[in-house]
Amino acid sequence: MQPLPGFRDFLPDSCAARNYIFAKWREVARRYGFIEWDGPILELTELYKKKSGDEIVHQLFRFEDKSHRDVSMRPELTPTLARVVASHHHDFKKPLKWFSIGQFFRYEKRQRGRLREHFQLNCDIVGEKSVAADVELLALCIDILREFGFSASDIIVRVSNRHAWMEFLSARELDVSRATEFLDIVDKLDRTEISIAEAKLASFGLTLQDITGFAQFPYMESIQFAEFLHEMRTRRLEDFVLIDPMIVRGLAYYTGFVFEVFDKQREFRAIAGGGRYDGLISQLSDGKLNLPAVGFAMGDVVLRDLMSTRPSTKRRLSAAVCRSRKMDAYVVIAEESKRPEAINFVQKLRRQKWRVEFSLEPTRVSRQFERSQHVLAQYAIVIGAEWPLITVKDLHRGGQIQLSSNEPVSQLRKKLTSWRRNRN
Ligand code: HAM
Repeated sequence: MQPLPGFRDFLPDSCAARNYIFAKWREVARRYGFIEWDGPILELTELYKKKSGDEIVHQLFRFEDKSHRDVSMRPELTPTLARVVASHHHDFKKPLKWFSIGQFFRYEKRQRGRLREHFQLNCDIVGEKSVAADVELLALCIDILREFGFSASDIIVRVSNRHAWMEFLSARELDVSRATEFLDIVDKLDRTEISIAEAKLASFGLTLQDITGFAQFPYMESIQFAEFLHEMRTRRLEDFVLIDPMIVRGLAYYTGFVFEVFDKQREFRAIAGGGRYDGLISQLSDGKLNLPAVGFAMGDVVLRDLMSTRPSTKRRLSAAVCRSRKMDAYVVIAEESKRPEAINFVQKLRRQKWRVEFSLEPTRVSRQFERSQHVLAQYAIVIGAEWPLITVKDLHRGGQIQLSSNEPVSQLRKKLTSWRRNRN
């Protein structure tokens, strides 16, 4: 049996790659002062119905639980974050800088870069309305990608502001109450057949040229983005950004600043996306709490695809996978009567944080050496008739040395390190 379409098995190397990604996400988020949290994987469907927008609601893995509740597996984290902040905000000083790593589920059409489960890093700042928060998040997003080995020649952050389109609608005296519907058309323009897009725009009294013409305005000089661009320049990150009004984002709750990160060649779908959602917490608390918020999420699927296309990022990924598998030592039991002593020694090493493997059953010595290579052990420690003397072979550089197993493990490590150094 295969996994369900759009779901992945994570075999050991793939799991190691996933752990490498999570470790980098966590490390850089902590560097920026974000603290980790998480929410439940299942929520009332109601939470997404109102907050996420039609597209995501149609993609929900949704069912009735045994108590007849209408529940859904989480397709994203933002509604949960807003719900949690609305009920726990008294317990935390603002602004909150929170991050989370977790799995999300969307019943998407099968396509490259989009699966039915994926992992996301979510980073959000709640309670700060200045553009400095938007820039802080973008800087974090860019630094994470740099940490994986990407540069400004690989990736681009396309930034926009939904206000620009609201002004577009009001300047033409169009129905602002249909803004969500309108933004959805703009969001999908590059993925919609021209005749369909034209028909949809016609219902607003607009043509395709109205949209493309507006988007060609020289936004880089526009006053709306001046402060944002100034802050990006201060952080020396201006090379990573491009103002692109066609980025409006598919989710319903965004209120202003929005962005998406793409590979420069635009071969892949978005790696990350986010923006401001200043009204969501107020909606979820029935107007009791009004806190501005901004955040983004980065997915693991496109990130992994993109990493495997660039030699430098691919090398880092393979090195991390290799590191995760490496053992410090393989204990070769050359004399079966010494098995109890050998096992005891293995445990002693493991308690001192060595990664140690040995054969669980009596096995030929040659097979044990083969296995020591297979598990990428640095040393083979041979235990035989000379016990308590042990022979340590350096499997990476060759050579061997005899030591006493009675010495403390820290002493053994010191001796092995200086032995290796002297042979350099
Ligand atoms: P999103 O753009 O829907 O935003 O997802 C963010 C990222 O998750 C995407 O750029 C993509 O890398 C990844 N992603 C989304 N869906 C899939 C999928 N089906 N398969 C693989 N990867 C996927 C959000 O989810 C917002 N809640 C982000 C946010 C946080 N906004 C504010 N705070």
